[in-house]
Formats: sequence, C-alpha cells, structure tokens
Amino acid sequence: MIPQFDLKKEYSLLENKIQAEIRKVFSKTNFIQGENVKKFEEKVANYIGVKYAISCNSGTDALHFALRSLNIGKGDEVITTPFTFISTIEAIMYLGAKPVFADINKRTYNISKSEILKKITSNTKAIIPVHLFGNPFDVEDLKKDIDNNFINIIEDCAQSFGAGINHKRTGSLGDIGCFSFYPTKNLGCYGDGGIITTNSEAIYKHIKKLTNHGSSKRYHHDIIGFNSRLDEIQAAILNIKLKLIDETNMMRVNIANIYNENLSEVKNLTLPYKENNTHHVYHQYTISSLDRDIIKKTLEKNNIGSAVYYPISLEKQNAYKYFFKDTANYKNSNFISNTCLSLPMYPYLSESDVLSVCNTIKNI
Ligand SMILES: Cc1ncc(COP(=O)(O)O)c(C=O)c1O
Repeated sequence: MIPQFDLKKEYSLLENKIQAEIRKVFSKTNFIQGENVKKFEEKVANYIGVKYAISCNSGTDALHFALRSLNIGKGDEVITTPFTFISTIEAIMYLGAKPVFADINKRTYNISKSEILKKITSNTKAIIPVHLFGNPFDVEDLKKDIDNNFINIIEDCAQSFGAGINHKRTGSLGDIGCFSFYPTKNLGCYGDGGIITTNSEAIYKHIKKLTNHGSSKRYHHDIIGFNSRLDEIQAAILNIKLKLIDETNMMRVNIANIYNENLSEVKNLTLPYKENNTHHVYHQYTISSLDRDIIKKTLEKNNIGSAVYYPISLEKQNAYKYFFKDTANYKNSNFISNTCLSLPMYPYLSESDVLSVCNTIKNI
C-alpha cells in the first residue's frame, strides 16, 4: 500500500529525539508558555525573516487573530480565494465581515491577481492570498497595484512553510503571515498549533494579548481575548522538526521532480505549475485531469492513495451558499475542484513508490 500521506516513517526516525524532549517537558512540568515555545517563536521569526512570531492554537486562530488585529468587522470586505480549506473564510465570518471571492488561476491553483483587482471596492480592508499546496503567490507583485496603506495583505501560509519567492519566504511578504502546524502540514506538530508572523510591533502586541485572554500581565486584561496557545509539548516537537524543514522540503521537491519527469508525456494530464522565481515546497503534488475519477479509482485498485483537495468550490458549501449568489463567476475554481487529484506526497516516500504511482497512471 502506498498511502497519500504517512507520518510513520518520520516518527520512527525522530522517535528517540522526540521522546527525550517530551521527557524534559514532563520533568519540568512547565506545560504552558515555557522555554520551548519562546525558543520556537524566536527561531520561526528568524527563519521567515520577520521581527515577530506569535504562536497560537491553530492556523484557523492565526487567521482569525490576524483579521481581528486589523480591526476588521461588519461592513468590511475581505477578498480571498474560493479554492482553499474552509478556515480561510471561517476567520472572515467570525468577525461579521464580508468574504469576497476572486477566482483562481487555472495553472497555479492560486488566487488570480487580475481577478482580485476587479473585486476591490472602497470597503475592501484586506486580501488573503493562500499559497496553496506550497506554491507561493506573488504578494509583492500584487502590492504594486493596490494601496497597501488601506488594504492589508494577510498571507495564508498554512501549506507553505519554507516556500519563497525572489528569495523571500512566505509569511514575510505581506503585512501578516498565518501558519498551521496541523500534523499533515509540511511543518506539522503532533496535535494542533499555529503561528502568526509580522514586522509590525503594534500587530504583534495586539495578537500576543488576543492569544492569552487579552492580557500581557497576569490577571490584568486590557482587551477581550481568547485562550489560544501553543503548548510546550508541541513546541518541543516543532523545535526538532524546524531544524529539518529545509531538508524535508527538498525531499518533497525531489519527489515532485520524479513525478514531473515521468508524467510529462501522459495525455490529458496537467502537472503542477511553478514559476522560475519561486521555491515551491509541494505540500501537495496536485495534477488536474478530466479523467480524474478514473485515475483515482485505478490508483485505489492498485493500493495507491490519492486525495481530492478540494472537491467543492467554497461558494457552494452548504454553510455559505446563501451568501454567494454569483456562483457562475468562479469557473476556474469549479473546474479545478472537478479535475484535481493530489498524488502521494511526503518526504519519506521512496523513489520506487513514486515510480509505481507514475507507472500505474501511465498504464491507464
Ligand atoms: C489553506 C489553509 N488555511 C488554514 C488552515 C487551518 O489550519 P488549522 O487546521 O491549523 O486550523 C489550513 C489547514 O488545515 C489550510 O490548509
């Protein structure tokens, strides 16, 4: 069996280190806001290339706090992509703001800059591009065409830890970066976790309070806050995995190259697209084909896992469809939802397994 995603090999390689670090946490019994969390925040800020990083409980909370720190609420519009995980728009809905979709680019699967520019109004307060599947969206290019003093850019980096464009890392390109450490992410912990990156001291201070009951001094609460903290056990695991992130991202790139080489001649199959100036980290290796369902079924018959991220363009989700009446406008998002397929992808996937996946597809 070749699963679409697997953590077992990674854990077996890291088990001794992880268990030793977890034992240290237990011996200190300092489970919340201890030294591992502090170290992790410093290391992430340094790695991403920003002044501040504030950890929290999840990528969803990171997006929620990013929007909240910009005082976004009722009457404000936030532009984002309909082809993403649901969290991206949940965060907008939590604040009573209006999500406005801009269709995606069919080749990159990312939000399209020209579609964003069509959707900007005097109520637009923020844009949330998602660096989907590890493929960086060109935030700096977008900045040239918008007034960044009035419209903030929040990067959804849940799938792009370590990815970059023009030698700058995602999470440092816009005003705020939001990361998830859900176990399947390319930097993942063994539970839930997230982090927010920014160069703004004001945003840093505000979000720091939001994550910890609105307080920066114990039992003094300046704003209404939340309980959303990364715990010491997860931070200890992440400190180990952060050291390996460049290596594991390169392992993903190598796997993607093998797929590219072996699948490039296959008819009716579109392979993932990457611009020359980007470092795509292949959180997913996602193809598109009108024969998607046949490919998926054939892989299944051959004990090969694959996954459809995402099967429903978000304007059609039950919870949101009352909100979006202009469903005809997201043609590319709907096309890709109906044709996309993510093949097995994780750092410790062997070359022979990748070749088996390719051969199975070629034989269809
Ligand atoms: C694009 C995107 N945004 C946001 C999130 C939310 O992250 P979390 O699951 O940590 O809340 C995820 C991951 O699940 C995601 O893939």
